[in-house]
Amino acid sequence: MNNRQAFPVDDLPRVPIAHLPTPIDHLPNLSRYLGGPEIFVKRDDQTGLATGGNKARKLEFLIAEALEASADCVITAGSTQSNHARQTAAAARRAGLEPHLVLYAAGGNPPETSTGNVLIDRLLGAIIHWTAEKAPYTGAIKRVEHVLKANEQRPFVIPYGGSNATGIMGYAAAMREVGEQIEEIGTFDAQVFATSSGGMQAGMILGAYLTGSLFDTRLLGISVDEQAETLAQRVANLVNDGARLLGLDWRINDDVPDINDDYLGSGYAVIGDLEREAIRLLAEKEGLLVDPVYTGRALGGLIDLIRRGEFTKGQRVLFWHTGGTAALFAFADNLLKSRPPA
Ligand SMILES: Cc1ncc(COP(=O)(O)O)c(C=O)c1O
Repeated sequence: MNNRQAFPVDDLPRVPIAHLPTPIDHLPNLSRYLGGPEIFVKRDDQTGLATGGNKARKLEFLIAEALEASADCVITAGSTQSNHARQTAAAARRAGLEPHLVLYAAGGNPPETSTGNVLIDRLLGAIIHWTAEKAPYTGAIKRVEHVLKANEQRPFVIPYGGSNATGIMGYAAAMREVGEQIEEIGTFDAQVFATSSGGMQAGMILGAYLTGSLFDTRLLGISVDEQAETLAQRVANLVNDGARLLGLDWRINDDVPDINDDYLGSGYAVIGDLEREAIRLLAEKEGLLVDPVYTGRALGGLIDLIRRGEFTKGQRVLFWHTGGTAALFAFADNLLKSRPPA
């Protein structure tokens, strides 16, 4: 199947809330500085929804499902500085739904200051339920759902990271979008991105299959918080759930998702030299900001892989900027560490 043929994702309910297509920008200064491949960036930080990010694409399908279910409110969960929670709150507001966010914080205590994504959540009027549960879908979320139903509300639960068969369709559709852009600007040897709940990577694999380009370009996920083997299994399950939803006979195995877990550092959202260098390099060479938790880590990984010769001169690499820059403010002190005062 090529890009212009019937695309089964188009048959699913979808609300147009993301700014699409997102541009692809060339990064000539960073490419020259590193002396490796030509680096391009897919600007999914420009999708809209209260500072942008990759969840906007998933939410086009998830919010449509909530509306079809006649929901009047949505519930989702994440960490304190969750980009997914912030974009879900914004999408819910656009759709006239009340946003409930179950946010993890140590001890279940809200942070003393509202900054970064928490500030935006509050400005969006999201109802925040703080929890000490790291996996709240069977606990805290169920309790919030129960209370809302008892109040005669109609909640719709959006999964962790927006990653289920429905959510991943956002990135299946994104692969068609990139396929059309490639016709204009030329192809890539690799596409590199942060992977965490795995939904984006799963959608990309499914979309690459649907556009007939699976294995044409390496789709390399830099894991932010999970061992490659565990995450690959989750990604493969999501791809297959998506294929099932579209009524396809095709399935993949868990050795297909290409995941590098060399950059987990000291854990999720623990900022190290890798992230600090990547953020500064991109800012100083290209005037572009990545975030400390996801895209900073993934870009740091890409820079290291280029230095190790995994990507070389003459190649072309597309780095997906998947958003999260609102979180920069929440990590201000850490990001300025070891930088001489201005
Ligand atoms: C900025 C950013 N980039 C990448 C990701 C990873 O996407 P996924 O959870 O679909 O793997 C996330 C997830 O929250 C994110 O917030």
